[in-house]
Amino acid sequence: MFRHFRSDVQTVFENDPAARSRFEVIFTYSGVHAIWAHRVAHSLYRRRWFTLARVISQVSRFMTGIEIHPGAKIGNRLFIDHGMGVVIGETCEIGDDVVIYQGVTLGGTGKEKGKRHPTIGNNVVIGSGAKVLGSFTVGDYSSIGSNAVVLREVPENCTVVGNPGRVVRRNGERVGDRLDHTQLPDPVIEMFRAMQKEIDGLKTELEDMKLTKAGGEVKS
Ligand SMILES: CC(C)(COP(=O)(O)OP(=O)(O)OC[C@H]1O[C@@H](n2cnc3c(N)ncnc32)[C@H](O)[C@@H]1OP(=O)(O)O)[C@@H](O)C(=O)NCCC(=O)NCCS
Repeated sequence: MFRHFRSDVQTVFENDPAARSRFEVIFTYSGVHAIWAHRVAHSLYRRRWFTLARVISQVSRFMTGIEIHPGAKIGNRLFIDHGMGVVIGETCEIGDDVVIYQGVTLGGTGKEKGKRHPTIGNNVVIGSGAKVLGSFTVGDYSSIGSNAVVLREVPENCTVVGNPGRVVRRNGERVGDRLDHTQLPDPVIEMFRAMQKEIDGLKTELEDMKLTKAGGEVKS
């Protein structure tokens, strides 16, 4: 458990330019505290000391604002930045070198039983406020944009944004139709065009009628 201590601190320096000293990281980074508490809780959970594990998890939540269920499996060098409001569910699995920002939920949809939380691959970034809900996988090197709501599998090396989450980049290339804001239909202009067409038609009809009438008068 303690062999991770050094790499946990090092991970903060690699991900947070604001980190100044080891002392500061060890004593003030709630993401790091939550991960340390989780290691203790998870080892108790694996020994089937479920209630004690839960108590440690809840104390950690009270102190850090980060709720990690003791059953969650977390890889190496997870970095939880800021952390407040992060929730990680019981059957969640997180790979190595993952970054999670505040307000992220790795949860279930409420419809599944057994494995009901996501599996996060290696080197995944999950932006602040994102919700990843269900028992699917988020592939290695993918990024979830902040506030995205992801409800289905994400392949490797993708960027997902929006609600519901959709892939907008895959292997660095843009994916799917993006809204072309310069080509939006304008219903008012469309209506004026239709009216103009009708007026032109009526004008032509009127001219024809005038000509027909004038022709008739000349003959008589
Ligand atoms: C998604 C993210 C990781 C960027 O990934 P990326 O692969 O570099 O993607 P890009 O920046 O090229 O953006 C791709 C498209 O998604 C859009 N986009 C990016 N993030 C978005 C978001 N959170 N919500 C909606 N759309 C978003 C971009 O505008 C861009 O659209 P375009 O193709 O029409 O220009 C980043 O935008 C993000 O949300 N990071 C989280 C950061 C965070 O939570 N910080 C908290 C610090 S306290």
